[in-house]
Amino acid sequence: MGEAEKKERKPVILSGIQPTGIFTLGNYIGAIRNWEKLQEEANCIYMIADLHSLTVRQDPAALRQKILECFALLMALGIDPEKSLMFIQSQVHTHAELSWVLSCYTQFGELSRMTQFKDKSARHADNVNAGLFTYPVLMAADILIYQPDLVPVGGDQKQHVEIARDIALRFNGIYGNVFRIPEPYIPQVGARVKSLADPTKKMSKSDENPNGTILVLDPPETIVKKFKRAVTDSEMEVVYREGKDGINNLMTIYSSVTGLTFDQIAHDFDGKGYGDFKTAVGEAVAEHLRPVREKFAQLIQDKAYLQKCYTEGAEKALAYSSRTLEKVYKKVGFVPLPKK
Ligand code: TRP
Repeated sequence: MGEAEKKERKPVILSGIQPTGIFTLGNYIGAIRNWEKLQEEANCIYMIADLHSLTVRQDPAALRQKILECFALLMALGIDPEKSLMFIQSQVHTHAELSWVLSCYTQFGELSRMTQFKDKSARHADNVNAGLFTYPVLMAADILIYQPDLVPVGGDQKQHVEIARDIALRFNGIYGNVFRIPEPYIPQVGARVKSLADPTKKMSKSDENPNGTILVLDPPETIVKKFKRAVTDSEMEVVYREGKDGINNLMTIYSSVTGLTFDQIAHDFDGKGYGDFKTAVGEAVAEHLRPVREKFAQLIQDKAYLQKCYTEGAEKALAYSSRTLEKVYKKVGFVPLPKK
């Protein structure tokens, strides 16, 4: 078996993230760090889902900047364009084309049942556009066009991976084996980093209280300061236990940046106050993110290198995804142009 063949036996893993701003520590620990690790064991495909971000109104100049920052940030966080296929969704036109076809194999009723559509249309009642409604179809196209085995996503996206499977099964049922049926993959460890200001809620970019959220590019002093203010409880014990949401969250974060177990952490902070613990977590996180800040600062200035990386990514993605699109067009009965 040749090298190329061996490579093909690795599972194909695909995921995407919207360019809605600098990632939080939650995005990093819950998702991107896992993406980075998966690069060693699988053929990974990671996209910046900028088409999806248009479902809410965007300022064009700000969006352009966020897309580039997001690309550089993924690289700073360890996604390596030499190891993985990494690209910007809008630069690969096949996704939108497959999305149209798949929308004709998706029922109005099943899209109306999507939890995220119901939530988002309630939250943006002034702009319930058709894109918000057909969003899962575009996501199904993003996925199915690369024939992946696994799609790592957060819990909120699981329903979208499931509808992608339903659409694929339906299409295959009519036309034969066109799409591989992907599995959602919801990583367990560190998946749920909570807000430092309200540890019952998920850490989120859109939190009204900026002290609740750590951004991966926050300066070290800011990180330490936010951790010092983290909400805990009225006890004094650093131990992972039901009901201690704040401490549990800090322990989860500390454990994921230091590699220490909860028992080791409890032992190390036995008899010490929460103040010491919070400072230790803040400093550990600030230090852990140092190389990310440095690499990002260097990449974002190197426009030519960034451009080279996303251009090559888009070219490869186009070649790869065109194979599936051509097959689909043929199956449904479109007339192909003669090959030049
Ligand atoms: N909808 C996803 C989110 O908002 C992003 C996304 C777009 C995605 N296309 C994808 C995730 C394909 C996984 C696979 O988080």
